[in-house]
Amino acid sequence: TEPPSQSPTPDTPSQPSSPDHSSPGLEKWVAEVPHPSVLDPVGTKNGNPYYEVEMREVEQQIHPDLPPTTVWGYDGQYPGPTIEAQQGEPVSVRWENKLPDEHLLPVDETIHSSKVAYDTTGVRVVTHLHGGNVEHTSDGKPKAWFTRDFEQTGPKFEKKDYYYVNDQSPATLWYHDHSLGITRLNVYAGLAGLYLLRNDHEESLGLPSGEYEIPLVLQDRSFNDDGSLFYPTGDSDTDNDSEKPDPSIVPQFFGDTSVVNGKAWPRLSVDPRKYRFRILNGSNCRFYNLKLFEYDESTGTTRTGGPPFTLVGNDGGLLASPITIEDRLEIGTGKRADVVVDFSDYSGQTLLLHNNAVAPYRGPDINSGDQQPLPEVMLVDVASVDVDDPNQVPSTLTDVPDIPVNSVDEERYLPMTMSSDDYGRPLHLLGSDAESSPHKLYDPVTETPNLNDTEIWSFANLTGVSHPMHLHLVHFQVLGRQPYSEYDPESETIDVESLEAPAPEEAGWNDIVTANPGEVTHVIVHFGEFEGLFNDQIGWYMWHCHMLEHEDHDMMRPFRVLPDSGENTRE
Ligand code: C2O
Ligand code: CU
Repeated sequence: TEPPSQSPTPDTPSQPSSPDHSSPGLEKWVAEVPHPSVLDPVGTKNGNPYYEVEMREVEQQIHPDLPPTTVWGYDGQYPGPTIEAQQGEPVSVRWENKLPDEHLLPVDETIHSSKVAYDTTGVRVVTHLHGGNVEHTSDGKPKAWFTRDFEQTGPKFEKKDYYYVNDQSPATLWYHDHSLGITRLNVYAGLAGLYLLRNDHEESLGLPSGEYEIPLVLQDRSFNDDGSLFYPTGDSDTDNDSEKPDPSIVPQFFGDTSVVNGKAWPRLSVDPRKYRFRILNGSNCRFYNLKLFEYDESTGTTRTGGPPFTLVGNDGGLLASPITIEDRLEIGTGKRADVVVDFSDYSGQTLLLHNNAVAPYRGPDINSGDQQPLPEVMLVDVASVDVDDPNQVPSTLTDVPDIPVNSVDEERYLPMTMSSDDYGRPLHLLGSDAESSPHKLYDPVTETPNLNDTEIWSFANLTGVSHPMHLHLVHFQVLGRQPYSEYDPESETIDVESLEAPAPEEAGWNDIVTANPGEVTHVIVHFGEFEGLFNDQIGWYMWHCHMLEHEDHDMMRPFRVLPDSGENTRE
């Protein structure tokens, strides 16, 4: 078995997230991983469940030795409570902004998207259902932000009612803040939670459920000695007599502390049986590369590999058949992995959930100084008891037909390039004329598929780092990758056979794909209903990098689904 790339020791402090900051040294593996609570509806609306969720500032005990941390929580909880939904049963949610009028974290008003939005008092929020096939008016787009608007006569803008149709297949979705220019800060402050969509078919599979199905929201955070969240500031030179701040934006954030379901360096108790974990990478920028190892806690060393992950679903729902991940399970920023782990051979053992320190950066890494390793995520204690385990992982889970490549209506060449903002700070931008027009965050819309069209989106990464590319509304299939030098944007068709095949964990339906530097990453998407998958809305949505610092710093574009053109290739 492959040894961990670094031999972790329990009390070696992790690398700081920024050269001049390191979190207080916290004893690891003290707190138990909490299971996020499930949100109860407050009533019904048109016969369907109706929820009210207040965003509130609260204090939460992140670690027993750390003073309570002020966080922002949906329903006053960090992470937010899980919303459980059934396919075919729509739900309505009233999202309410009860946050203070001052931000918890340093807002950089000089970044372009923040300047676009910053014309009001109160903290901007808007909740996006990530992975949801929803009408664009309920999507929670960045410009749909609302505040408590203290300057107005009443709290007239402090809430929004959203409607989630839930017609898509069962999946591990999540909801998080998406406000223009401050998404990175709002999510970092705590505004994220899971949204699990289920149906009877999935229930009939016999996967672990109830107390044996556990959400794991993985995030990296940094703390100050007083327990408060640490987030670096970009511009600090107040002696600077120019109007413009120092060009020192926070280009990417990596925390030095592993936080799982809102607890720092926690441990999880399990029985020697199968568990289903809904893993969400809810970090701002970090990629996780996970593997379980047998662990000797007294010496702080790992022994051999532990049980593998059996991947049963990813972003968009169940895979056709389970995939055993023998090596590392990569989960890009914002992605979900629905896995089953069988602990039955590990009775009485302690396991380490290890994260490979190496990010999936294959090319030259211009920001390598920002990528701090976080090798240890959590411990798992397997009880030494006899248990019955009636659960199973069937060899067939659901139908996932390939979107036919010969039915493509449009192939879009989407370069990702480096530029700089008004202050000379580096920007990662999207779209074909990004360099000539760096600040076209919204206009003009250049990606305009028609409903029922099939398209290939080809992300050409001409920057130095990998970017997790996300499309709202739809789920797509990853076709593969090729070196940029071998790609011809003029050529009519893509020879899928010649591409580097997707990674095992990229099977099935995805809503985020990792685009590595120097490569073109091709995905195929059908804007409409396809074999039980519903991408069937028209209107305005976003596509963007899911590294939240990049997204806030203009690495985001709209797309607009137009009505059916009546001339689709696919019948
Ligand atoms: Cu999870 Cu537009 O994002
Ligand atoms: Cu990015």
